Amino acid sequence: MGKKIFSGVQPTGNLHLGNYLGAIKNFVELNNDDKNECIFCVVDLHAITVYQNPELLRNNIYETVATFLASGINHKKSIIFNQSRVGAHSETAWILSCVARMGWLNRMTQFKEKAGKDKEKASIGLYSYPVLMAADILLYDATHVPVGDDQKQHLELCRDIAQRFNNDYKVENFFKVPEPLIQKQFSRIMSLKDGLKKMSKSEPSDLSRINLTDNKDDILNKIKKAKTDSLPMPSTIEELEDRAEAKNLLGIYSSLSGLTLEKSISEFSGKNFSEFKNDLAEILVDKIIPISVEIKKLLEDKKYLEQILSEGHKKANDIASNKLKKIHELVGF
Ligand code: TYM
Repeated sequence: MGKKIFSGVQPTGNLHLGNYLGAIKNFVELNNDDKNECIFCVVDLHAITVYQNPELLRNNIYETVATFLASGINHKKSIIFNQSRVGAHSETAWILSCVARMGWLNRMTQFKEKAGKDKEKASIGLYSYPVLMAADILLYDATHVPVGDDQKQHLELCRDIAQRFNNDYKVENFFKVPEPLIQKQFSRIMSLKDGLKKMSKSEPSDLSRINLTDNKDDILNKIKKAKTDSLPMPSTIEELEDRAEAKNLLGIYSSLSGLTLEKSISEFSGKNFSEFKNDLAEILVDKIIPISVEIKKLLEDKKYLEQILSEGHKKANDIASNKLKKIHELVGF
């Protein structure tokens, strides 16, 4: 049986290799299987949990759609839309925020990381963001949610919320309890400057990530400057234990080339990092430049991107409003 896939990406600019390898590449594979029904959402409501310049946000929404298409998502075989146009997301998030418990949200590590030391200054939206994410997923009866490793805890929360709602309102299976789809390997791509930190859009140094809009020179330069250690390339997986940068770069190489980590290790065993870096840069250029070129081309035709969002909006809105109507009845409105 096919899967009902839902996933989202924030339009906050600088979509990077982590987003691609951890999530979008998977979206494409799931979308290529005709048995699956796929919904991919540009989660602009999530984006404003941290202030966004309105003009940039508007552009980044299109850029995220362009990235989906350039990466190989087929809009004829999926629904691509942006969250803010479907009012049911915000409304359902409110209802679910009355079901979710403070104690559950207090455990969310991403909030702690993002809010930093001064939690009092974080927006309420940043705190309750996983509830909105649960609304996104549950409105569409998604069975599977492909994400990177950093979203695992949010998905567990979504499952708890679904079960709690079903119990409170005595409706077995009203909300489907979704399964996370997180790749066993390479589901957490790390910064090129620090193998212990996640590759992220918000990291100030652009050298820490490969953006999906980078050109060839950017990629070559970033890989040349990527942090390594002074040892030769490892010969066994065990050797990677304390070598976060080597592990990350080999992971990126493996993921892009479709090799297992073991195979990549044996390919470069004992060689210098510089030799490996040449091959890594080459495969990055091979895989990322066509996407980057296509994103730029698509962005020149906003009308086309708008048309895709508008078609996606109609389809998503039908599904979500229908589910919301049932939620209203159950809750007693
Ligand atoms: P976002 O926009 O931060 O990231 C989009 C996707 O990219 C993955 N990702 C990574 N994977 C591996 N290594 C990395 N360094 C890396 N950085 C990001 C993320 O895990 C994610 O899959 N809350 C979500 C968006 C969202 C959502 C949803 C996802 C909103 N509603 C419903 C699924 C279902 C987020 O902020 O992702």
